[in-house]
Amino acid sequence: MKRLTVPAIQRRKFEGKTAEPLVMLTAYTARQAQLLDPHCDMLLVGDSLGQVIYGLPSTLAVTLDMMIAHGAAVVRGSYHSVVLVDMPFGSYETSPQHAFASASRVMAETGCAAVKLEGGEAMAETISFLSQRGIPVMAHIGLTPQAVNALGGYGARGKSQQEHAKIMADARAVAQAGAFAMVLEGVMEELAVAITDSVDVPVIGIGASAHCDGQVLVTEDMLGMFDRVPRFVKRYENLAQTIDGAAARYAAEVRTRAFPTDDQVYRPKN
Ligand code: KIV
Ligand code: NA
Repeated sequence: MKRLTVPAIQRRKFEGKTAEPLVMLTAYTARQAQLLDPHCDMLLVGDSLGQVIYGLPSTLAVTLDMMIAHGAAVVRGSYHSVVLVDMPFGSYETSPQHAFASASRVMAETGCAAVKLEGGEAMAETISFLSQRGIPVMAHIGLTPQAVNALGGYGARGKSQQEHAKIMADARAVAQAGAFAMVLEGVMEELAVAITDSVDVPVIGIGASAHCDGQVLVTEDMLGMFDRVPRFVKRYENLAQTIDGAAARYAAEVRTRAFPTDDQVYRPKN
């Protein structure tokens, strides 16, 4: 199977009402990428790895080097999906030139197909600068976790008329600037429907609407690795329980010398 391309993803928007929704999940490691890749259109190396992998309190301390290390692993572990890497906080906001310097490192050192960055109108110039220079950009609007301190938390956005209008303006601005797609996170459903119907690039929802052009979730959330997850997460597995049970059985067998058995030890052949 040939790897999907950014233009192929973008075209899905124009396949009309019957277009199949785009499937996206996060991936941070090579083996995880291998397992998810056949089922996805896009794999996102999200800066959510800060919390998920590194136990950080937010995404703010995630570095470009962390994103590059995990991005390269996910590219190595996949052959079908478009791999996107998140631009971490502080690596792209000050100027289009700064963003290009960071994003070109991500592209060159990971082999990914595109980057994602948070922000709407304020990032339009940067999105246009990167896209015109060979770096496809997915925008991320609505609830933007890197702005948690400014937003005052991770609550849903677009509740007031003013916020609704601002997020709609962000969506129009990033599409106009040349973003090939956008993530729309944590917004009132009515706003998600309106945005999906008003921009000509795919809108990938998370806590948005089934009407979006695709969906994304953090894989570990979807797999039930965490006790506390946002309302918009559906758990398809309970991996936390599975791992806890396996570790408990292993620990008990080590402590009773029931493991290893004859099957797991080396002896000379006679
Ligand atoms: O970092 C991340 O995982 C994300 C997705 C939730 C869209 O940005
Ligand atoms: Na992110």
